[in-house]
Amino acid sequence: MSLWERHGFARLMDWNMRGPATGRLRAAAVAPAAGDVLEVGFGTGLNLPYYRDSVRSLTALDPLDALRERVDARIAAARVPVRRVLRAADGRLPFDDARFDCVVTTWTLCTIPDVATALREMRRVLRPDGRYLFLEHGVSDQPRVARWQRRIEPLYKRVAGGCLLTRHIDALISAAGFTLVECERWVEPGPRVFTAMVRGSARP
Ligand SMILES: C[S@@+](CC[C@H](N)C(=O)[O-])C[C@H]1O[C@@H](n2cnc3c(N)ncnc32)[C@H](O)[C@@H]1O
Repeated sequence: MSLWERHGFARLMDWNMRGPATGRLRAAAVAPAAGDVLEVGFGTGLNLPYYRDSVRSLTALDPLDALRERVDARIAAARVPVRRVLRAADGRLPFDDARFDCVVTTWTLCTIPDVATALREMRRVLRPDGRYLFLEHGVSDQPRVARWQRRIEPLYKRVAGGCLLTRHIDALISAAGFTLVECERWVEPGPRVFTAMVRGSARP
Protein backbone atom coordinates (compact mmCIF):
# COMPACT_ATOMS: atom_id res chain seq x y z
CA MET A 1 0.00 0.00 0.00
CA SER A 2 1.49 3.33 -1.07
CA LEU A 3 1.98 6.32 1.23
CA TRP A 4 -0.66 8.19 -0.79
CA GLU A 5 -3.22 5.39 -0.24
CA ARG A 6 -2.43 5.16 3.44
CA HIS A 7 -2.52 8.84 4.25
CA GLY A 8 -3.75 11.13 1.45
CA PHE A 9 -6.32 8.88 -0.15
CA ALA A 10 -7.63 7.58 3.17
CA ARG A 11 -8.38 11.15 4.27
CA LEU A 12 -10.00 12.00 0.95
CA MET A 13 -12.10 8.83 1.04
CA ASP A 14 -13.21 9.47 4.61
CA TRP A 15 -14.25 13.02 3.75
CA ASN A 16 -15.89 12.17 0.42
CA MET A 17 -17.81 9.13 1.58
CA ARG A 18 -19.60 10.49 4.62
CA GLY A 19 -22.53 12.86 4.79
CA PRO A 20 -26.31 12.65 4.62
CA ALA A 21 -26.59 11.34 1.05
CA THR A 22 -24.22 8.41 1.49
CA GLY A 23 -25.56 7.96 5.04
CA ARG A 24 -29.06 7.27 3.73
CA LEU A 25 -27.70 4.71 1.28
CA ARG A 26 -25.55 3.08 3.97
CA ALA A 27 -28.47 2.88 6.41
CA ALA A 28 -30.69 1.14 3.86
CA ALA A 29 -27.93 -1.22 2.74
CA VAL A 30 -26.88 -2.51 6.16
CA ALA A 31 -30.31 -2.46 7.84
CA PRO A 32 -30.97 -6.18 7.15
CA ALA A 33 -27.59 -7.23 8.62
CA ALA A 34 -27.97 -9.63 11.55
CA GLY A 35 -25.97 -12.11 13.62
CA ASP A 36 -22.24 -12.44 13.03
CA VAL A 37 -21.36 -10.04 10.23
CA LEU A 38 -18.22 -9.77 8.10
CA GLU A 39 -17.69 -6.37 6.49
CA VAL A 40 -15.17 -6.56 3.66
CA GLY A 41 -13.48 -3.24 2.87
CA PHE A 42 -14.31 -1.71 6.26
CA GLY A 43 -12.39 1.47 5.33
CA THR A 44 -12.69 4.08 8.06
CA GLY A 45 -15.78 2.57 9.68
CA LEU A 46 -18.39 4.78 8.06
CA ASN A 47 -21.05 2.04 8.17
CA LEU A 48 -20.73 1.55 11.93
CA PRO A 49 -23.51 3.97 13.02
CA TYR A 50 -26.00 2.17 10.79
CA TYR A 51 -25.72 -1.37 12.11
CA ARG A 52 -28.68 -2.30 14.27
CA ASP A 53 -28.93 -4.30 17.48
CA SER A 54 -29.67 -7.39 15.38
CA VAL A 55 -25.90 -7.56 14.72
CA ARG A 56 -24.15 -9.73 17.33
CA SER A 57 -20.59 -9.10 16.17
CA LEU A 58 -18.83 -7.31 13.35
CA THR A 59 -15.59 -8.57 11.83
CA ALA A 60 -14.12 -5.61 9.97
CA LEU A 61 -11.68 -6.66 7.26
CA ASP A 62 -9.51 -4.26 5.26
CA PRO A 63 -5.78 -4.05 4.47
CA LEU A 64 -5.89 -0.29 5.14
CA ASP A 65 -4.72 0.86 8.57
CA ALA A 66 -5.16 4.62 8.39
CA LEU A 67 -6.64 7.46 10.47
CA ARG A 68 -6.25 5.22 13.49
CA GLU A 69 -7.58 7.59 16.17
CA ARG A 70 -10.64 8.47 14.14
CA VAL A 71 -11.41 4.83 13.35
CA ASP A 72 -10.81 3.73 16.96
CA ALA A 73 -13.23 6.43 18.16
CA ARG A 74 -15.87 5.18 15.73
CA ILE A 75 -15.36 1.61 16.90
CA ALA A 76 -15.61 2.70 20.55
CA ALA A 77 -18.90 4.49 19.80
CA ALA A 78 -20.40 1.56 17.87
CA ARG A 79 -23.21 -0.42 19.46
CA VAL A 80 -21.82 -3.69 18.13
CA PRO A 81 -18.57 -5.37 19.17
CA VAL A 82 -16.01 -4.91 16.39
CA ARG A 83 -12.97 -7.06 15.63
CA ARG A 84 -10.62 -5.61 13.04
CA VAL A 85 -8.71 -7.86 10.66
CA LEU A 86 -6.03 -5.97 8.73
CA ARG A 87 -5.72 -7.97 5.56
CA ALA A 88 -6.87 -8.16 1.97
CA ALA A 89 -9.93 -10.16 0.98
CA ASP A 90 -8.58 -11.52 -2.29
CA GLY A 91 -6.75 -14.49 -0.81
CA ARG A 92 -7.78 -17.27 1.54
CA LEU A 93 -9.76 -15.61 4.35
CA PRO A 94 -8.77 -16.69 7.87
CA PHE A 95 -12.27 -17.95 8.70
CA ASP A 96 -13.95 -21.37 8.66
CA ASP A 97 -16.56 -22.22 6.06
CA ALA A 98 -20.05 -20.93 6.94
CA ARG A 99 -18.67 -18.80 9.82
CA PHE A 100 -20.85 -15.72 9.18
CA ASP A 101 -24.57 -14.99 8.99
CA CYS A 102 -24.03 -11.98 6.80
CA VAL A 103 -21.35 -10.38 4.60
CA VAL A 104 -21.46 -6.67 3.75
CA THR A 105 -19.60 -4.59 1.18
CA THR A 106 -20.15 -0.91 0.41
CA TRP A 107 -18.16 0.78 -2.39
CA THR A 108 -15.53 -1.96 -2.16
CA LEU A 109 -15.87 -4.39 -5.08
CA CYS A 110 -14.61 -1.57 -7.34
CA THR A 111 -11.25 -1.62 -5.55
CA ILE A 112 -10.36 -5.23 -4.68
CA PRO A 113 -7.80 -6.30 -7.30
CA ASP A 114 -8.80 -10.00 -7.56
CA VAL A 115 -12.48 -9.46 -7.00
CA ALA A 116 -13.48 -12.92 -8.27
CA THR A 117 -11.39 -14.64 -5.59
CA ALA A 118 -12.68 -12.26 -2.91
CA LEU A 119 -16.31 -12.96 -3.84
CA ARG A 120 -15.71 -16.73 -3.83
CA GLU A 121 -14.16 -16.46 -0.37
CA MET A 122 -17.04 -14.30 0.87
CA ARG A 123 -19.42 -16.99 -0.37
CA ARG A 124 -17.42 -19.74 1.33
CA VAL A 125 -17.52 -18.07 4.75
CA LEU A 126 -21.27 -17.36 4.56
CA ARG A 127 -23.73 -19.81 6.07
CA PRO A 128 -25.93 -21.52 3.46
CA ASP A 129 -28.93 -19.51 4.69
CA GLY A 130 -26.87 -16.31 5.14
CA ARG A 131 -27.05 -13.08 3.15
CA TYR A 132 -24.56 -10.99 1.23
CA LEU A 133 -25.60 -7.31 1.27
CA PHE A 134 -23.96 -4.98 -1.23
CA LEU A 135 -23.99 -1.30 -2.14
CA GLU A 136 -21.57 -0.61 -4.96
CA HIS A 137 -20.89 1.49 -8.03
CA GLY A 138 -19.90 0.21 -11.42
CA VAL A 139 -20.17 0.50 -15.14
CA SER A 140 -22.96 2.70 -16.47
CA ASP A 141 -25.84 1.25 -18.51
CA GLN A 142 -25.48 4.27 -20.81
CA PRO A 143 -22.91 3.50 -23.56
CA ARG A 144 -21.70 7.12 -23.75
CA VAL A 145 -21.03 7.27 -20.02
CA ALA A 146 -19.41 3.82 -20.09
CA ARG A 147 -17.06 5.03 -22.83
CA TRP A 148 -15.99 7.94 -20.62
CA GLN A 149 -15.55 5.57 -17.69
CA ARG A 150 -13.18 3.45 -19.80
CA ARG A 151 -11.29 6.54 -20.92
CA ILE A 152 -10.62 8.02 -17.50
CA GLU A 153 -10.23 4.76 -15.54
CA PRO A 154 -6.47 4.25 -16.09
CA LEU A 155 -5.70 7.66 -14.59
CA TYR A 156 -8.50 7.67 -12.03
CA LYS A 157 -7.49 4.37 -10.44
CA ARG A 158 -4.02 5.77 -9.76
CA VAL A 159 -5.35 8.55 -7.58
CA ALA A 160 -8.37 6.72 -6.17
CA GLY A 161 -6.72 3.81 -4.38
CA GLY A 162 -7.19 1.40 -7.31
CA CYS A 163 -10.92 2.09 -7.78
CA LEU A 164 -12.19 0.83 -11.14
CA LEU A 165 -15.18 2.46 -12.78
CA THR A 166 -16.12 -0.23 -15.28
CA ARG A 167 -16.91 -3.31 -13.24
CA HIS A 168 -20.19 -5.17 -13.90
CA ILE A 169 -20.93 -5.64 -10.23
CA ASP A 170 -24.02 -7.86 -10.34
CA ALA A 171 -22.46 -10.04 -13.06
CA LEU A 172 -19.36 -10.53 -10.89
CA ILE A 173 -21.50 -11.46 -7.88
CA SER A 174 -23.45 -14.02 -9.92
CA ALA A 175 -20.27 -15.40 -11.50
CA ALA A 176 -18.93 -16.17 -8.01
CA GLY A 177 -21.89 -18.50 -7.44
CA PHE A 178 -24.21 -16.18 -5.49
CA THR A 179 -27.91 -16.08 -6.32
CA LEU A 180 -29.18 -12.52 -6.48
CA VAL A 181 -32.27 -12.06 -4.31
CA GLU A 182 -32.66 -8.32 -4.89
CA CYS A 183 -30.70 -6.10 -7.23
CA GLU A 184 -31.47 -2.46 -7.93
CA ARG A 185 -29.55 -0.14 -10.24
CA TRP A 186 -29.94 3.59 -10.33
CA VAL A 187 -27.98 6.77 -10.96
CA GLU A 188 -27.17 9.06 -8.05
CA PRO A 189 -26.87 12.81 -8.58
CA GLY A 190 -23.34 13.85 -9.54
CA PRO A 191 -20.84 13.17 -12.33
CA ARG A 192 -22.24 10.14 -14.11
CA VAL A 193 -18.95 8.30 -14.43
CA PHE A 194 -19.03 7.83 -10.65
CA THR A 195 -22.73 7.46 -9.89
CA ALA A 196 -23.97 4.27 -11.56
CA MET A 197 -25.07 2.52 -8.39
CA VAL A 198 -26.13 -1.03 -7.64
CA ARG A 199 -27.41 -2.43 -4.39
CA GLY A 200 -29.06 -5.60 -3.27
CA SER A 201 -28.69 -8.91 -1.54
CA ALA A 202 -27.62 -12.37 -2.55
CA ARG A 203 -27.55 -15.85 -1.05
CA PRO A 204 -24.54 -18.14 -1.27
C1 LIG B 1 -13.82 3.32 -1.59
S1 LIG B 1 -13.26 2.55 -0.16
C2 LIG B 1 -14.79 2.17 0.69
C3 LIG B 1 -14.61 2.00 2.16
C4 LIG B 1 -15.87 1.60 2.94
N1 LIG B 1 -16.39 0.33 2.48
C5 LIG B 1 -16.94 2.66 2.87
O1 LIG B 1 -18.06 2.36 2.44
O2 LIG B 1 -16.66 3.78 3.29
C6 LIG B 1 -12.69 0.97 -0.70
C7 LIG B 1 -12.11 0.13 0.42
O3 LIG B 1 -11.67 -1.14 -0.10
C8 LIG B 1 -10.49 -1.49 0.58
N2 LIG B 1 -9.73 -2.51 -0.16
C9 LIG B 1 -8.85 -2.33 -1.17
N3 LIG B 1 -8.33 -3.49 -1.55
C10 LIG B 1 -8.87 -4.44 -0.78
C11 LIG B 1 -8.72 -5.85 -0.69
N4 LIG B 1 -7.87 -6.51 -1.49
N5 LIG B 1 -9.44 -6.51 0.24
C12 LIG B 1 -10.29 -5.85 1.06
N6 LIG B 1 -10.49 -4.51 1.02
C13 LIG B 1 -9.79 -3.82 0.12
C14 LIG B 1 -9.75 -0.18 0.68
O4 LIG B 1 -8.71 -0.21 1.64
C15 LIG B 1 -10.88 0.76 1.06
O5 LIG B 1 -11.06 0.85 2.45
